[in-house]
Amino acid sequence: MTGASLGQSAGARAGDPAQGSHVAEGKCAQCHGADGNSSDPQFPKLAGQSPAYLYRQLSDFRNGIRKSDIMGPIAADLTDAEMANAASFFGKQPRKADAVKDQRLAAIGERIFFSGMPACAMCHRASDRRGMMGGGMMGRMPMMGMMSGAPNLNGQHAAYIADQLDRFASGARPSSTPMGRIAAALSEADKRAVAEYLSGLR
Ligand code: HEC
Ligand code: HEC
Repeated sequence: MTGASLGQSAGARAGDPAQGSHVAEGKCAQCHGADGNSSDPQFPKLAGQSPAYLYRQLSDFRNGIRKSDIMGPIAADLTDAEMANAASFFGKQPRKADAVKDQRLAAIGERIFFSGMPACAMCHRASDRRGMMGGGMMGRMPMMGMMSGAPNLNGQHAAYIADQLDRFASGARPSSTPMGRIAAALSEADKRAVAEYLSGLR
């Protein structure tokens, strides 16, 4: 039923990024930006996101598993091929990070990301820069990140991340992954801190 399971979605097909660029330009760019780096934080950045994750979110929007008054009708209007092509196009665009506004808050967020229980970095890829500093975190190993099906959070808008954590915690965004439980265990301050940290990662 829900495609939002651990591991790659069986429904994700290899898309054609050249075809996807037309879909993006015509149907997505006004909100998500021509290259998937949206400037308005209410619209998530799609650039540099795993195509399998993007595809799965689109099909969850279409099926109403992930509820959005905006994305629901848009996804319902796409064919499977358009979804796969757009996912492939956006996945190939380099993501541009935001500037961290509050360094102190970001430093608290960094500790949550790497040393919280559980550490977000177990599943979400750490930045390349940080990963090179060593350590055995599973999230730094590309295979593990892929197996977990966890999206790339690096450079994502802080406000979007904090909002999604609220939705996982309340169940408004249902997930067959442990994200509901994980988000519910974070305080409001923790959510803001980890979101601030992630927004500045490259
Ligand atoms: C009118 C503005 C708008 C347009 C046009 C639009 N989106 Fe979105 N999109 C949103 C909003 C708002 C969200 C956040 C939805 C939520 O979580 O409630 C979103 C979320 C998403 C997500 C989830 C990202 C994540 O990190 O989980 C994907 C994937 C997505 N959109 C793909 C697309 C694609 C592909 C197109 C073009 C076919 C598109 N969107 C067109 C507004 C838009
Ligand atoms: C056990 C693996 C795992 C851990 C640990 C984990 N996540 Fe996730 N996370 C996921 C998966 C898988 C998804 C995709 C959920 C879905 O599609 O339903 C996700 C989704 C998310 C999203 C939504 C991103 C988007 O683009 O909409 C955010 C934000 C997020 N996680 C933040 C965190 C934070 C912060 C932590 C640490 C406090 C964390 N995660 C720990 C696996 C994990």
